[in-house]
Amino acid sequence: AAIEKGGYDHFMLKEIHEQPTTIFDCLRGRLLPETGMIKMGGIEANIEALINAPRIIIVACGTSWHAGLVAEYLIEETCRIPVEVEYASEFRYRNPIIQKGDVIIAISQSGETADTLVALENAKEQGAFIFGIVNSVGSSIARLSHAGAYTHSGPEIGVASTKAFTGQLAVITMMALKMAKAKGSISDEKYMNLLHELQAIPEKVAAILKNTTGIEAIADKYKDATDFLFLGRGYNFPVALEGALKLKEISYIHAEGYPAAEMKHGPIALVDENLPVVFVTTRDRFYEKIVSNVQEIKARKGKVICIASEGDTVIPEMADDTIFVPDADELVGPLLSVVPLQLLSYYVGLKKGYDVDKPRNLAKSVTVE
Ligand code: G6P
Repeated sequence: AAIEKGGYDHFMLKEIHEQPTTIFDCLRGRLLPETGMIKMGGIEANIEALINAPRIIIVACGTSWHAGLVAEYLIEETCRIPVEVEYASEFRYRNPIIQKGDVIIAISQSGETADTLVALENAKEQGAFIFGIVNSVGSSIARLSHAGAYTHSGPEIGVASTKAFTGQLAVITMMALKMAKAKGSISDEKYMNLLHELQAIPEKVAAILKNTTGIEAIADKYKDATDFLFLGRGYNFPVALEGALKLKEISYIHAEGYPAAEMKHGPIALVDENLPVVFVTTRDRFYEKIVSNVQEIKARKGKVICIASEGDTVIPEMADDTIFVPDADELVGPLLSVVPLQLLSYYVGLKKGYDVDKPRNLAKSVTVE
């Protein structure tokens, strides 16, 4: 088992550190900035169905559902197609409306999640076109899909999903860009720029992973907190949700993810000097707005931990603790900002003495409803 973990103490840590490689493998042969191309057979073969869809419905559970939320932002912005993101367990039972031409994107690491599988079977019977974004080759969801793209993240052993999530984000980004290009809903300049931004991601993730002692120290400082709040806006809102989920799964600390502005409508009541609030405050179109959200928490004596862009001098002045990530276009930002949150939950769980690879009550793949 020690050999399988490649020198790491846990699969989770190994898989977090594999991400520069797994994201690279996901992009390899597909993302070709030199020629301005994205090669994805499953998309090319069905491009008309995809770009002419009146609506795209994303169906997933857990961490994969968070990837679906990022996909909603990406596809709506670049392709101008309405997107809905559904919990598979709700979608399957509420007699959802599926209309002619609707496309369903299924996102699943294992390809075996029961709720997702049955939701797709139902939608397929009603005539929907199913596009699968799956990690596990040949899995049930991969076989049920009309077309798809594998994430190529390799086997994920840690129960808490890490590298599969960034693989999903990489596929979704390529998919959105490829569709947008075919549809003509993105400028050539923006498209080319994003191809390069995406290509630079593996190296930037490697840079984050190079030195994690700061994150470890933050984990140590806050590990006895009973609650955590995770806040983000825009593309980083799903990242906040994922950060909260990771912490719950691994450290058993109650955590909630929220849109940073929506926090005023409830969670702000929880803020006192004992509540750590993790903000994703990387430089994007919402930067000024989230800076004021940070001020609102500080005014109520909350402890603020920020994920900020390298070179930011404003945030470290306000926050109790800051973790820096390399600058990137906001459309690919989640691929970077989620990594420190994965590490934070890993180190909190570790320092609390829990089995991070096998958290209590959780299953790697939920094959019963
Ligand atoms: C379980 C796992 C999660 C995962 C979710 C969905 O809850 O513990 O890590 O995100 O199932 O799984 P899937 O394989 O469909 O992505």
